[in-house]
Amino acid sequence: MQLRPNFASLLATVALLPSVLAVGTPFGLGSATTGGGSAAAATPTSLSQLTTWLSDSTARTIVLDRLWDFTGIEGTTTGSGCKPWTCSPNPQIAIDKDSWCENFQPNAAKTTVTYDNAGLNPLRVGNNKTLLGKGSGSGIQGKGLYLNRSNNVIIQNIKIVNINPQFVWGGDAIAVHNMKMIDGGSNIWIDHNFIQNIGRQFIATGYGAVSKTTISNNVFDGDTTWSPNCNGQAYWAFIFTGAGDQLTFALNHVYHTSGRGPHVGGTSGFFQNVHVFNNYYDHIDGHAIEPDVGSKILLEGNYFNTVTSPDLAGDGQLYVPTSSSTACQSALGRSCVANTLNGSGALVDASDTGVLNGITAAYSAGATVMSAQDAANYVQSHAGVGIVN
Ligand SMILES: *[C@@H]1O[C@H](CO)[C@@H](O)[C@H](O)[C@H]1NC(C)=O
Ligand SMILES: *[C@@H]1O[C@H](CO)[C@@H](O)[C@H](O)[C@H]1NC(C)=O
Ligand SMILES: *[C@@H]1O[C@H](CO)[C@@H](O)[C@H](O)[C@H]1NC(C)=O
Repeated sequence: MQLRPNFASLLATVALLPSVLAVGTPFGLGSATTGGGSAAAATPTSLSQLTTWLSDSTARTIVLDRLWDFTGIEGTTTGSGCKPWTCSPNPQIAIDKDSWCENFQPNAAKTTVTYDNAGLNPLRVGNNKTLLGKGSGSGIQGKGLYLNRSNNVIIQNIKIVNINPQFVWGGDAIAVHNMKMIDGGSNIWIDHNFIQNIGRQFIATGYGAVSKTTISNNVFDGDTTWSPNCNGQAYWAFIFTGAGDQLTFALNHVYHTSGRGPHVGGTSGFFQNVHVFNNYYDHIDGHAIEPDVGSKILLEGNYFNTVTSPDLAGDGQLYVPTSSSTACQSALGRSCVANTLNGSGALVDASDTGVLNGITAAYSAGATVMSAQDAANYVQSHAGVGIVN
């Protein structure tokens, strides 16, 4: 395999060093992330212990040995909502959070919704944490994770599933919502996870700067009963809107989503630099990349298989070469690797090499960007849970 370190040597290293729990080392912008570092691994035995360990100010390596279910433990709320979509079957319904229906969907029919409170009250994640799942069935259900200016966090080999999937505003899986802009980095590594059935985003970065972050080797499964388009595909996938986001998004399997794959930018004065490489975009009845104001997005070596719109025209800057491109030489010290479109729609406004003012070699440090075809094969056998631990 072309990624370093390769799996055989990485697994051998782990066997020799059982106290080093996060498996492998991060590449790209999150390279310096150590999470709980050498903190002894500990397995929580209750929901409240897990909640405390994640949020306190102690460096920790937290091992999940089962799927912890938060559904129902905080009760339900019945309140007002609205129906922005009228398609059939099973359009998502919106919770009227912060008067969203009145402000943004004034023409939508009003309705009453009953949702699970746990989904709107995510687990807080403090600094210096490794959250590591065992096997292929461990993780959290009914609640997501909230990183508020958190520094140095590894989230690896866990499932995050079933967070009010019927409802917009029902909850995000991972929100990295820095309330205030911070210089320097957050050091976050989100690796080898599986996320499905989430009311809102799989990953959202909020409005503060999220930097030194790598999102790698995850399976994002958009299969859902409820969606805005009534096509059984989750729409809200990823939104990166921070004041100065700098992200590596690589080797992920993005499956059956229909929008925001990712949406990047949207606030003038903010910037988001995102290097998207070697991902496998698979059966997307809608759009993938959505560049908005302030974004610089470089795509390399990605494989788009049956994607209606690989990108949308937007106010951001986007470069998606479909043949090897020497335009990358000065920024990356090498040519950019071509992206492949297979049974997919055409790219639009995707030739802005100005993105290379924002993307440096650090965004792919420690990885060798492989061909799109190799990436498609690699991702299908190496992304998601049950591979590394
Ligand atoms: C996030 O952290 C900031 C600074 O500590 C705090 O003021 C804010 O209330 C936090 N946000 C939430 C939603 O907890
Ligand atoms: C935790 O992280 C902070 C910076 O976020 C660092 O200064 C500190 O040394 C870390 N502590 C441990 C025990 O790793
Ligand atoms: C490319 O499309 C063909 C025809 O639909 C399909 O058989 C093949 O699996 C696709 N390749 C990949 C890597 O998705």
